[in-house]
Amino acid sequence: MMRPAIIIALLVLCFAACKKEENPFEQLEHNSPNPPSEALPQDNFAWLHQRVFRPVCANSGCHDGNFEPDFRSIGSAYNSLVFHPVIANDPGNSFTYRVLPGNVQMSFLHERLTTFVPNTSGTMPLETDGPDWPQNQGLYIAAISSWIQSGAPNMFGTPPSLGNLEPQVTGCLAFAAGNTTSPLPRGTDPGVQPIEVPAGNVDLWFSFSDDSTASNAFTFNKFKIATSVLGFATVPELSLSTGSAITGLDFGNTNATFTHKAALDLASYPIGSQLFVRVYVDDGDHPEPTEVPNDGTGSPMVDYFTLMIVP
Ligand code: HEM
Repeated sequence: MMRPAIIIALLVLCFAACKKEENPFEQLEHNSPNPPSEALPQDNFAWLHQRVFRPVCANSGCHDGNFEPDFRSIGSAYNSLVFHPVIANDPGNSFTYRVLPGNVQMSFLHERLTTFVPNTSGTMPLETDGPDWPQNQGLYIAAISSWIQSGAPNMFGTPPSLGNLEPQVTGCLAFAAGNTTSPLPRGTDPGVQPIEVPAGNVDLWFSFSDDSTASNAFTFNKFKIATSVLGFATVPELSLSTGSAITGLDFGNTNATFTHKAALDLASYPIGSQLFVRVYVDDGDHPEPTEVPNDGTGSPMVDYFTLMIVP
């Protein structure tokens, strides 16, 4: 018969093991209209940006626009990493890109996090006072490697193609029509929850990032709204207006410029209805407009573009 002391010790050990991994950004995320990082898979680019690239790398004087890569926003981070040429290579000039999708060892990002490359300022991060780098370094490097290994998709699962990258949606906020300062909240249950909107006039604003085209220079700007995630083939394309812009928090909780607006009249939808939204934009560098999200975007990422009619 096992001694009581051993049973108690085992119980304490189990409890410690089950304790939720601490999220040092809980307070910041709590006040945001965006889902918390815990809602995201750990190798999703939005999780990596919220937990590593912005708080650990984009410190003042570092990758905050001072040094490449630019980790300030999800869009700038993605566009300055994936298939992006290297500046200060190793003595053998072994690396072509900061991130070579599918190849961790040939990605300079991984090299700079794990090796002191000669003739550089050292292993990254140069300063380790980021909120939780010392205790989570292993977890973060593993998550970055898993993202690279899985083909370095953007946060909505779209794989990159060599050459010009597709435009990315980096923020989606809903407001009562005409309001631009009080974004409507998402549901508070765990996970990525729909934005809760009234059965009335609502404005949906989007921010974009592209590696070469300014979002107000996109050549195609449309959206669709459907009552089922499979219903997009049968609903009409509607115009996004691009005449004005507002500032708001993007998916990485960084202030961004929202340039595209969808004016919605939701009066005919009953309380409890769930609505799905997709946007279609063209940076002028691809054969057809980019659709976000698309049929390949699974949960929880597709839920970023979901609305719920509430009383
Ligand atoms: C985990 C966080 C960080 C990551 C992932 C990161 C990543 C990188 C990468 C990939 C490069 C090479 C760019 C190229 O040559 O193409 C680089 C360079 C650089 N980083 Fe970081 N960095 C981080 C944190 C920091 C911090 C906190 C500082 C400042 C204290 C910093 C300062 C620099 C500087 C000055 C360079 C250019 C000089 C050199 O190549 O050594 N980095 N970083």
